[in-house]
Order: sequence, then structure tokens, then C-alpha cells
Amino acid sequence: MGTLTNWMIPVALATLLASMAHAQTPPASDTSAELRTLLATPGDPARGKTAFATCQGCHRKNASGRSDGSIPRLTGQHASVVVKQVLDIRAGRRNNPSMLPYVVDPAFTMTQLVDISAYLQALPFEGSIGKGPGTDLARGQQLYERDCAACHGASGQGDAATFNPMIAAQHYRYLVREMIAIRDGSRGNSNADMVKVVKPYSPAEIEAVSDYLSQMAPPKP
Ligand code: HEC
Ligand code: HEC
Repeated sequence: MGTLTNWMIPVALATLLASMAHAQTPPASDTSAELRTLLATPGDPARGKTAFATCQGCHRKNASGRSDGSIPRLTGQHASVVVKQVLDIRAGRRNNPSMLPYVVDPAFTMTQLVDISAYLQALPFEGSIGKGPGTDLARGQQLYERDCAACHGASGQGDAATFNPMIAAQHYRYLVREMIAIRDGSRGNSNADMVKVVKPYSPAEIEAVSDYLSQMAPPKP
């Protein structure tokens, strides 16, 4: 897992070089024609379940992710968010070196991506979420309602139409890691208005808001 076979290296390199070529004006996100075309294509969840074999070594069989924070839960995520994030990762707009070789592999097709996204969106939640310590949930709730709910929704459900991810019931350690990456600019494709909000956050504030989200009930797919 995660090893580059010889033929994958040129593909990964080409993708990297292509992303560096437009490095002067990096698009914050992909709302391109490719994304719109894929979103207009109906996905087949049954085929998606089979195609998810490529992903499950890391994301786990029921897409439940890992509580150690290395891998996000994908169950019930908006199909539009999954398609956009994978396109961003593939084009180097979102930094994800371990997943990159799998999604630039020519054997991974855009039909598979659309099918996998339909499968994940309808997948009921199973397993357990790595929760935070629960020590400052009132502060977490206050920050969430003040700074995040307008975009991510009152129950952390996100919004498919604006590519706004569902972030409720996500693993605590993953959320903390992403919040730091968003604050420090290392994620790559973060929403600029969100970065402004998160920039002044202290480590304690990042932990409190992530903890609050990790304890939320997963929204129904
Ligand atoms: C080698 C391990 C690996 C494989 C294989 C893999 N992923 Fe990932 N994926 C990751 C990691 C690690 C992250 C989190 C990256 C980060 O920290 O930002 C991730 C993140 C994602 C995200 C973003 C989720 C979010 O909440 O923003 C999506 C969507 C995703 N993967 C879909 C897929 C799909 C679909 C496949 C199969 C085609 C796949 N992944 C295969 C490791 C992997
Ligand atoms: C202006 C709207 C907006 C605000 C405010 C905002 N976000 Fe976001 N957030 C987004 C969008 C859009 C994305 C997806 C970014 C992308 O891929 O372009 C995102 C992504 C994320 C992610 C990554 C999710 C994943 O699955 O990898 C986390 C975590 C997150 N936001 C948490 C927060 C928290 C916590 C707050 C409040 C402190 C917040 N956001 C405020 C719009 C917003």
C-alpha cells in the first residue's frame, strides 16, 4: 500500500509538474467544466461498491476511516464533495501524497469516481468515531455557532451545492489535523473565507471546535 510501481512514477510526476506549471495562479478549488460534467452524470452505487476496493485499504471496508486521524470517514459525505476533493487531489490542488498515485492511475476512471461517490453518499454510518476529550465542549459549541455554522450548517451537515463538506461526527484527530492544515495553508484547496476565520485560532480553540464536531451525531445520508 502506498508504494509507487515503476509506471506510476512518471504519471505522478507529470501530475505534479502540471500542477506546478499553473503554480502562479493556483485555483483555490475546481469548479471547472470537468467537475460540472461529472456532477451531471448519475452514479451507480452498486458499481461504486465494487470500485471502492481501490480505496478501502486506506479508508476501510465501511469507509469509516481511522480514529488515529490519518484517514477521514467518508460515509454519507455529499457526492459533490467527494468528486471535488478527488479531482483536487488528482490535480495537486489539495495536498495528499499518499493517495495521489491511486487517483492518477489510468485504471481509475471518472466513471468509477462518480459511482464511488454515489455509493458513499448513500452509505449508512457504521463503526465508531474517535472522539475528543470532551473537556471544553461549551467553548467548542460557541465557536462553531459563531464561526462555522453559516457555511457547514447547524448540525455540521455541510451543503452539497456549495461543495461544503459534512464535518459532523468526523474523527477528532483528523479534524484537528485538517484545521491546522487549513490555518497554516498546507491543505492547498481551503476556502479563503474559512482560512480568515481559522487564522487567529489558538491550539485550544482548534481542539475545542474539533471536539464538539467529533461528538455530534452523524447526519442521516
Ligand atoms: C494510500 C491511502 C489512500 C487510498 C488508497 C485512498 N485514499 Fe483517500 N485519503 C487518504 C488520506 C491520507 C486522506 C486525508 C488527506 C488529508 O489529510 O488531507 C484522504 C482523503 C480523501 C478524501 C477527502 C475527504 C475529506 O473529508 O475531505 C476523499 C473524498 C477520498 N480520500 C476519497 C478516496 C477515494 C474515492 C479513493 C479510491 C479511489 C481513495 N480515497 C483512496 C488516503 C487514501
Ligand atoms: C465561508 C464558508 C466556511 C466557513 C466560515 C468555514 N468553512 Fe470549513 N469548509 C468550507 C468549504 C467550502 C470547505 C471545503 C474546501 C474546499 O475543498 O475547497 C471546508 C472544509 C472544511 C474542513 C475539511 C473537511 C474534510 O472533510 O476534510 C473542515 C474540518 C472544516 N471546513 C471545518 C471548519 C470549521 C471548524 C469552521 C469554523 C471554525 C469552518 N470550517 C468555517 C467552508 C467554510
